[in-house]
Amino acid sequence: MQRPPYEPWRETSGVFRWRLGVRPLDLADWIEIDDHYDAEINAKARIMAEHPSTAFVALDDAEPECAEVANAITAHLRHRFPERCAGLMLDTALHPLDAIARHIQEDLVVMGERNGHMVVVAGSVCFPNRWDLPSKLGRTMTEVHEPVALLNDQLERVIDDVLRRLSPERPMWRLGWGVIDTDDLYQPLDGTAAPRPIDAAPSDHFLRIERETLTRHPITNCVLFTIRTHQMALPDVKASDAESARALADAIASMPDPIADYKQLRTTGAAIAAWLRSH
Ligand code: HEM
Repeated sequence: MQRPPYEPWRETSGVFRWRLGVRPLDLADWIEIDDHYDAEINAKARIMAEHPSTAFVALDDAEPECAEVANAITAHLRHRFPERCAGLMLDTALHPLDAIARHIQEDLVVMGERNGHMVVVAGSVCFPNRWDLPSKLGRTMTEVHEPVALLNDQLERVIDDVLRRLSPERPMWRLGWGVIDTDDLYQPLDGTAAPRPIDAAPSDHFLRIERETLTRHPITNCVLFTIRTHQMALPDVKASDAESARALADAIASMPDPIADYKQLRTTGAAIAAWLRSH
């Protein structure tokens, strides 16, 4: 049975709290390609055709930053995945961030300096875990994280420090996770997602693991935030490793109420945790 590719809930030692958990990134592992590549690239094309203003935003003056990022990822893909990407050319009719995002499974958010602050200057996010990309445009990290319960109270300063210290020579990565009641990766908040299942049983839930990278790019000094969403059905998580499933149950059961509310697990979390622990 396949295991989850990452297990960030095991780092919470039984008690849930937000964790920064950034670590040095080996650039050889910047972009991940797996068996879901074709399905997710097709899904991105469909989402960009049907909901372009939900999944893509950019300030008018963000093209240089987005072009730098697009060129860097293109060079990386050609070098790292030559069988698939040696001849990769971007569609010049598209915005450069949109053009590169259509070739990788990652969602992309670009941050640049405006009026002395690092703000979101562009984003291509087809697989948001119930958050709203358009409302983040032009916002600082503190503003971006404002809707996330307790996050700024616990981590605002450290997140700003990470961003300030990030240099082209020292890229970083981190993990996040959540449990939701659908395997549809497209989960924006503006009413364009498919209707939510009603009263999904614990065994109908899915684990979403977000692998996020942070890289700084030297020409424009922008920062690229990539979000790669891995997904697994909860029964598969449970079958793959009982100990890991128990640790996941502990993390869910120990979420403070405001965080359980934010993650929409306040009413279902206890049942999901009990099911994960059961034989
Ligand atoms: C320096 C860059 C950033 C750092 C260090 C950072 C860090 C964090 C951390 C520690 C969390 C707590 C949840 C978790 O463990 O994943 C979080 C949550 C979140 N962040 Fe960030 N973040 C950064 C940039 C961004 C950007 C650019 C966006 C979007 C524009 C964003 C959107 C979110 C959202 C939507 C959540 C809630 C996730 C959830 O539902 O679990 N973050 N971030």
